[in-house]
Amino acid sequence: MLMLRRPRRNRNSKLIRELTCETRLSTEQLVYPLFLENGEGIKKEISSLPGNFRFSVDQVLEEIGECIELGLAKFILFPAIAEELKDELATHSFAEDNFYLEAARQIKQAFPETLLISDVAMDPYSSDGHDGLVLDGRIVNDESLLILSRMAIAQAQAGFDIIAPSDMMDGRVEFIRDALDQNEFTETPIMSYTAKYASAYYGPFRDALDSAPKEGDKKTYQMNPANKREALIEGELDTAEGADYLMVKPALHYLDIIHQMKEHFELPIAAYHVSGECAMLIAACEKGWLDYDQAMPEVLNSIARAGADVIITYFAKDFARQFGS
Ligand code: PBG
Repeated sequence: MLMLRRPRRNRNSKLIRELTCETRLSTEQLVYPLFLENGEGIKKEISSLPGNFRFSVDQVLEEIGECIELGLAKFILFPAIAEELKDELATHSFAEDNFYLEAARQIKQAFPETLLISDVAMDPYSSDGHDGLVLDGRIVNDESLLILSRMAIAQAQAGFDIIAPSDMMDGRVEFIRDALDQNEFTETPIMSYTAKYASAYYGPFRDALDSAPKEGDKKTYQMNPANKREALIEGELDTAEGADYLMVKPALHYLDIIHQMKEHFELPIAAYHVSGECAMLIAACEKGWLDYDQAMPEVLNSIARAGADVIITYFAKDFARQFGS
């Protein structure tokens, strides 16, 4: 048959497929989330997220050492806080003896070549389990900002390289930017959780940290999963307020949002491939229904193809193991 265009010519061999590949996902783009707990010798697997653990600092140093060997050097850290240290004002988040801040210091000392991203939100430290301050049953916005900014300064002082507010309070990027600037952290970037949805897929994460809200849900601050244009409002505000990255979270069920953000904004776009999204695939693979080594990179590629420059994923270490840096 005479045919001028034969698209299969560009798929004919492995080497040709390499030349015509449109999305080149690399370990360099990946950020690996790690859960921390105070203590020693702790490495507890999270039952709803197999292969992921709650580490004490000594153990996380070993884990990070292994990751660096694999070419993976970027991490986002989350603390599990003892119940008795939680209070309504999340004061432990900026306390002198906060082990999360101490962990960052120790990691940076042992591995200066790492990049550490913090999480700014009240939930791990709040006796109410909400990201902002609860007053008379309502999550109040402006009163939360002062607490969040104190947390951000403490994290920058501890050596975190990027500050990542995940709380979804209005005006927090500007407030935190001002606070950082006034404390001589003008060079510390903010990775804003710009379009963070009120998603059911944070379940394993909240198991990992015991950080679920004690009452109610997060729908008055996290976005409605049905909304797309609203992400543009958040993106415009975060850009105007001085964010250095715009994040979409979750990732897989929000590929259209990632794509839209990439089209509309010039800032780097990050996507958080959240715990529940990873857990789904792990569960199917454990049942033998899907092949992990093939499905995992396909999933991460879809997030990159949608437009994410940075991907935060619990699969980062496995990807690095399979593909190197
Ligand atoms: C805290 C925070 C959450 C996640 C990241 N930061 C949970 C939440 O908002 O309830 C979820 C990450 C994941 O599920 O992997 N504000």
